[in-house]
Amino acid sequence: MVTPTAVAPPALTTVNEMYEGGQILMTGATGFLGQILIEKLLRSFPRIKTIYIIVREKKGLSAEQRIDKMFRNVIFESLHELMPHFQLKIKVLNGQLDAPNLGLSPEDRSLVMSKVNLVFHCAATLRFDEELKVAINTNMYATQKLLDLAKQCSNLRMFTYVSTAFSHANRKYIEEIVYKPKTHYTELLKLAEMDITHPKYQEARDRLSTENINTYTLTKAAAEQLLHEEATYIPVCIFRPSIVVSTWSDPIPGWIDNLYGPTGLVCGAQAGIIRSVLADPNVKADLVPVDFVANALVCAPWHARQSYEKDNSSMPVYNYVSSKDNPITWYDFSITSQKAQLSIPSSQGLWYCFVLLTKHRTVYFLQNLLLHYLFGYIFDTCSWISGNKFRLLPIYDKMSKVVSALEPFSTKEWTFDNRNVEQMWNQLSSSEQNRFPFNIESLNWDDFLDRYVRGTLVHHLNDKMDSETRIKAKKRYTRLTVAHHCAKSLLYACVVLLLWSLLKYILW
Ligand SMILES: NC(=O)c1ccc[n+]([C@@H]2O[C@H](COP(=O)([O-])OP(=O)(O)OC[C@H]3O[C@@H](n4cnc5c(N)ncnc54)[C@H](OP(=O)(O)O)[C@@H]3O)[C@@H](O)[C@H]2O)c1
Repeated sequence: MVTPTAVAPPALTTVNEMYEGGQILMTGATGFLGQILIEKLLRSFPRIKTIYIIVREKKGLSAEQRIDKMFRNVIFESLHELMPHFQLKIKVLNGQLDAPNLGLSPEDRSLVMSKVNLVFHCAATLRFDEELKVAINTNMYATQKLLDLAKQCSNLRMFTYVSTAFSHANRKYIEEIVYKPKTHYTELLKLAEMDITHPKYQEARDRLSTENINTYTLTKAAAEQLLHEEATYIPVCIFRPSIVVSTWSDPIPGWIDNLYGPTGLVCGAQAGIIRSVLADPNVKADLVPVDFVANALVCAPWHARQSYEKDNSSMPVYNYVSSKDNPITWYDFSITSQKAQLSIPSSQGLWYCFVLLTKHRTVYFLQNLLLHYLFGYIFDTCSWISGNKFRLLPIYDKMSKVVSALEPFSTKEWTFDNRNVEQMWNQLSSSEQNRFPFNIESLNWDDFLDRYVRGTLVHHLNDKMDSETRIKAKKRYTRLTVAHHCAKSLLYACVVLLLWSLLKYILW
């Protein structure tokens, strides 16, 4: 049954109309996706009135100072040129998502209720090993409070929740629907009220650890269920990207500011530190560029609003993935990114760049010992003798944790249905498709990975692309290649000698 809403919904024929006079509330604006989204929104829709962003203080900087610093980031350069006063459209609301009432002042809450007509909820804790209580508070409790606030916005056009394609990772086939997790979300919310040392909390945490891959996906799935049950007759849609990596082109190619997922491993390989990864070479790596994600995310409220106008109990879900229409395996990902790394080597790399993939834990364990820890011990000892502070062993300890957290994503494969995303793309006019390109089929992985690798080199390893640095980098890399092949030959010679001695001992 279609229940009448307080405000007659506007008929929307174009994405532009969705943002006409837009007063947007956004969480996670300081995050990787949030920054690209905010830039795209401001650049694409000059008729957006205000973007309210909930930001917390961090590392001694106030929310306002953090935002000033963020807008000095290279990705906002073209926006500064195009709209020099764009910051006047930004209203920073001091808040803390896991605090009561989102940590907002009563004045800011009233402001949001009276003004906001669109919500993008992007904030989350993405740590796979996050303490359950923290993950519940950040990913679920905050979603509930934000929804309560959105319900009081008299003019709400759409509440867009950014989830993850892996929220229901315990399934093999994932459709664009909200699945009911085994444990009801209210039970999880109750858990967050307990002390983490309470035996009941610990018992529940152990039980829940088998229900989903990790506390991140568990709480993202529960937040979806929360929306499904609590957002009746409120315009809500759920957007689920898979593994988000650097920009393809917009606003600049190859930009990335985090080390999540494969990015940390690509950086490690470029630095000549990582040589073995636990990943099934034949499994599809479901990667999507962040600018494509932001483009699809910008269009999702427009598309979802049309469904809502037909049936106001609808809650469209968008699986934004690459594995269905433009798959790439971890093997191809590894080979192609290594090719890119060879063409633009790091100027500070420690060793020749090569990465072995294995899906077998024992093989990985041995490779990890031999290619990482043994190298680390030798390097750290030399470093200590020469009075250098740089140490590899703590990096390997950290990396081992990352690799095991990533294991489910690098050794398993899911089949996704993405009909809503396809439909959304097909409903866009050709000029809108040009403004918001997100058709993943159009992505050429070779070209993309080249930009991704360059991006990690520039934005993470602070390398330079000028010709002088490149010449030095190539020379250094040639020396490292020779050293690598000499060390390899020496190692093989030692193994042959050892075997020969053993054989001699046994036979004679
Ligand atoms: N990155 C991916 O590969 C990926 C894949 C699928 C889905 N997603 C989803 O996309 C969304 C954005 O992810 P991202 O990659 O942009 O992550 P991110 O870079 O880690 O950003 C997370 C954002 O959430 C904010 N946040 C976290 N806890 C908060 C709290 N207690 N109070 C206020 N703000 C808080 C962070 O603010 P601070 O700057 O103050 O920390 C930051 O702005 C998330 O919902 C995530 O689940 C991401």
